[in-house]
Amino acid sequence: MSINILGIESSCDETAAAIVRDGREILSNIIATQIPWHKEYGGVVPEIASRKHLEFIVPVIKKALKEANISLDELDGIAVTYGPGLVGGLLVGLSAAKALAYSRNLPLIGVNHIEGHIYANFLAYPQLKPPLICLTVSGGHTTLLAITKLGSYEILGQTRDDAAGEAYDKISRVLGLGYPGGPAIEKAAKEGSTSYIFPKALADELDFSFSGLKTAVINLVHNAEQKEEKLNVYDLAASFQAAVIEVLVEKTIRAAKLKQVKNVLLSGGVASNEALRTALNKACQKEGLTLYYPPKILCTDNAAMIACTGYYRFLEGERAAWDLNADPRLGF
Ligand code: KG4
Ligand code: ZN
Repeated sequence: MSINILGIESSCDETAAAIVRDGREILSNIIATQIPWHKEYGGVVPEIASRKHLEFIVPVIKKALKEANISLDELDGIAVTYGPGLVGGLLVGLSAAKALAYSRNLPLIGVNHIEGHIYANFLAYPQLKPPLICLTVSGGHTTLLAITKLGSYEILGQTRDDAAGEAYDKISRVLGLGYPGGPAIEKAAKEGSTSYIFPKALADELDFSFSGLKTAVINLVHNAEQKEEKLNVYDLAASFQAAVIEVLVEKTIRAAKLKQVKNVLLSGGVASNEALRTALNKACQKEGLTLYYPPKILCTDNAAMIACTGYYRFLEGERAAWDLNADPRLGF
């Protein structure tokens, strides 16, 4: 008998609902993006995000059910992101999930958003088995970990300051390339060459730090402004991106060698970056490692990855209590 899980995601600026069958078959994957409302402010405005989630959540869930062509009676459980993220947004998704689960007497499963990003790989490649090394790069996290068994993680490295995606977003703003910064910088970088040399921090460790790189770019831009010199934005974007990618690739390969693990996963919003995918793939091939990454639509925030994580938790008998609360700082 198949198991249908409804996933709900509302931790940042996408209101999303999806139905996933048996942890691998995506019956629907609805994402209502709020980018148009946040764009003019250059980043996510939490208050606007909460209001938009409230507006979108019911239509998005209804659409997910309709597109999957299943009724609420055919659901086996509801998985919802309860952290980390913006508390206002999280509460909207969590309240909707609880109300539906309670009224339909369905199991409720709380999902860690970052774990959801990792599971996007299990959704795309259900045959994957630990041990695995996973680099998760999103707007809020940069985490390098070893997956020893399903649901068990050993954190090998984390960012000490900005996340990789956060650095992309901030630098994009400074270069006047707009929001969200990742895709904007990726596009600009294609037109430029890596003519600027930027610092790479924490060379001997598996932890990351992007604030020095960010400051170096910002200082360069401000100095040029004061001297009324013109900088090449495309070259700056290309050089910044190259510096980020070099560090991410180098540490991921080092972690795989250290742990003697052959299969490497890439996940999170920044994992949709083509240059990162290509560079990491090349480095993995050189070392005899195999790289996996989800299709782009499953890299950035979505609810299919939450439903998939929920499915594995459901199989393990995990159920959340009705007092499950939003946890904006939820860690691993
Ligand atoms: O995983 P995600 O959708 O949300 C969080 O959990 O944070 O990641 C969003 C982040 C943003 O910082 C965005 O700029 C970045 O992922 N991003 C990218 C690309 N697409 C999204 N960064 C680099 N290249 C991209 N193509
Ligand atoms: Zn995310």
